[in-house]
Amino acid sequence: MNLSKKPEILIIGGGVVGLSIARELRKRSAGRITILERGAIGREASYAAAGMLAPQAETDETDDFFHLCNESNKLYPGFAEELLAETGVSIELDRRGTLYLALTDDDVRQIRHRLAWQRRAGLNVEHLSANEARKLEPFISPDVREALFFPNDWQVENRKLLAALRKYAEINDIQIIENTEVKSLLIENKRVIGAATGGEKFAAGTVVLAIGAWTSLIKADGLTMPFVKPIRGQILYYRTAKRLFGTVIYSPRGYLVPRLDGRILAGATVEDVGFDKSVTADGIDFLRENALEIAPSLVNLEPSESWAGLRPRAADGLPILGAFPEIENLFIATAHYRNGILLAPLTAKILADAIAGNVESKYAKIFSPRRFLYAKAF
Ligand code: FAD
Ligand code: GLY
Repeated sequence: MNLSKKPEILIIGGGVVGLSIARELRKRSAGRITILERGAIGREASYAAAGMLAPQAETDETDDFFHLCNESNKLYPGFAEELLAETGVSIELDRRGTLYLALTDDDVRQIRHRLAWQRRAGLNVEHLSANEARKLEPFISPDVREALFFPNDWQVENRKLLAALRKYAEINDIQIIENTEVKSLLIENKRVIGAATGGEKFAAGTVVLAIGAWTSLIKADGLTMPFVKPIRGQILYYRTAKRLFGTVIYSPRGYLVPRLDGRILAGATVEDVGFDKSVTADGIDFLRENALEIAPSLVNLEPSESWAGLRPRAADGLPILGAFPEIENLFIATAHYRNGILLAPLTAKILADAIAGNVESKYAKIFSPRRFLYAKAF
């Protein structure tokens, strides 16, 4: 092994999670940091995402996962400001809020249930009549029955976020090695000592696995990887000359995310189809149907582009964060499933704390890989 190349910290995977951890470690003056990326940096799930920061629209109760999401969301204004100062890249944090529409009887029951638990928890949520909702967003369907408005659910342009994080790495001496797929972890006496590709070995004092949907494919002698599954999400977008919507808009079946430049993202499918990133005719039909249900006037527009990405999902649907209990100096941050963009800033802090050897934080305990030690794949 070439020890002259030895980084103190080797991060495997250059999505939003790996990049955010690298930045947080550098801010705490860690030593040499290297990111090994199988393809190009930030081109998988983190690139495919819609960029919604939506703890109130995307969780179902005030449990640990909600608190994780909510705390991470609160970090975003500072995260965006710091990244702008550090890199000159605006990540377009848009705090105009999120509207959640009820279009059927069943939807009305669903959103009232959401309203009730959020009010009980003291969250900021407004219950709007159909007229109030249409006043806020004139292009939504006349069939809207009522709506919720979440002033604290926001969005970012996730591709700009990836560009900012990459730039941060480049100007802060974080080495990025692309087109380099790690096949296995090198483990000696229950301690990780590096990682191996097909032909090369990288020694490291500490290894962080941040490889999203591909987590279960890594080999490591004597170590059981937690099972993480790819869940495909297809998205399409419409291009409009001027911005039609101010807020992010959900129905229980889909969502529209209006970008600053007039694009409207319509998402998303949730499909258990293995490592297949194809866009399908059925997927596009589904997305169009849901988009038109929210905003029938989109019928006159042809979608400009579509794509798909693989969300990383653990057996219990929750993130896996922190130190590996069986192996010294091995850490993991994966399975962010539908909320990895939202969870990136807090994940970075949790991992940096764990690596610094601070007392295991509340979230590193709750979301530890320990819970899968004896679990079977689902
Ligand atoms: P990825 O971005 O997939 O990065 C993992 C990286 O690891 C990849 O670059 C990959 O090439 C690399 N890699 C894999 N194997 C290896 C290996 N063996 N060696 C080296 N490198 C390797 N989240 C939100 O918060 N808000 C949203 O609105 C949102 N919308 C979404 C919409 C869609 C359609 C999809 C698909 C996802 C959405 N998500 C959203 C979820 C979010 O995208 C993910 O949770 C997040 O991107 C996961 O980040 P990651 O860095 O773990 O994974
Ligand atoms: N959070 C949006 C999605 O996963 O589609």
